[in-house]
Amino acid sequence: MASIQKIVLAGATGSLGKPMLEALLDAKYEVTVFTRLTSDHTFPPDIKVVKVDYTDVEGLTAALQGTDALIITVTTGAVGQQKYIVDAAVAAGIKRIIPSEFGCDISNPKARALPVYARKVEIEEYIEAKCKGTPTTYTYIFNNAFLDWGIDAKSLVDVPGKKIDLYDGGETRYTATPLSFVAKGTVACLQKFEETANRAVKLHGAVLTQKKLLQLAQKVVGTDGWEVKVVRTEDVERESWANLKSNPGDTFGWVVGFLKRAIFAEGYGGDFTDSNDNQLLGLKQLSDEDVVEAIRARA
Ligand SMILES: NC(=O)c1ccc[n+]([C@@H]2O[C@H](COP(=O)([O-])OP(=O)(O)OC[C@H]3O[C@@H](n4cnc5c(N)ncnc54)[C@H](OP(=O)(O)O)[C@@H]3O)[C@@H](O)[C@H]2O)c1
Repeated sequence: MASIQKIVLAGATGSLGKPMLEALLDAKYEVTVFTRLTSDHTFPPDIKVVKVDYTDVEGLTAALQGTDALIITVTTGAVGQQKYIVDAAVAAGIKRIIPSEFGCDISNPKARALPVYARKVEIEEYIEAKCKGTPTTYTYIFNNAFLDWGIDAKSLVDVPGKKIDLYDGGETRYTATPLSFVAKGTVACLQKFEETANRAVKLHGAVLTQKKLLQLAQKVVGTDGWEVKVVRTEDVERESWANLKSNPGDTFGWVVGFLKRAIFAEGYGGDFTDSNDNQLLGLKQLSDEDVVEAIRARA
């Protein structure tokens, strides 16, 4: 069995990177953090921090020497740039690469075909080709929507503003997973090294529908004054295609719409209830009360 001790975490200062760093330290891994040359973060003194140029394969290879696993939590806009660090990880003989995925199940053909995932699909294909015939393996982590992040960003529900969109009537089930759950699940993949090699792992936090989320949010802020809109994800997708065609550079016009289609629509693989890796990784699905607590903590 592979012994995984030394981890590099690239993007440790982000929304997911912070809880990921915490989970790795809790599990007593020896962690090195990669951060951009231009970044100016402060880290706890016992963490090794390396400033890197994410396009310099030679420099990245040198910085990755002796590392067992590489976890990448860089921002969505930098996903395409992972090719360089993948080249470096394979050259350095790293045992496991976990790229910056952490979203919908893009093995679902309908989700995979949405332009918003083009970069992530490209990176998966790149990793698979690069790892072939080498000792380097990979794991993709899927968690569908981030629960707490989605409440903060008001993309699941706007609790303070008391607004919610009921996609396709609001009864379609989908998975929503807290950041700390994603982090724990990712770390658990290192401990179940063989079982998680060269495949996608699905982490299932809570099972929600928009109607259920509304009820749970109402337990925290009451039932009065809600603005509830019914939205068809088919229309949202059509609009996103039109915006993409007319003005591809304006990502606000299409990215979010495609994400909504993938997360909330029937048939796009957003409900992990019956097919997930929680049991393998020792994770327990959240109860309704846990979701209420998550809402209360950020209301
Ligand atoms: N499922 C969901 O609902 C959901 C929601 C949001 C995000 N995600 C996914 O989760 C992953 C992590 O996203 P996040 O929101 O946690 O990221 P984030 O907070 O936006 O950024 C993470 C880190 O990336 C680094 N970074 C920023 N710009 C960069 C650039 N141009 N090149 C290289 N590194 C850069 C920064 O670290 P340094 O300053 O230290 O270099 C930053 O702290 C992404 O794959 C994203 O698509 C999923």
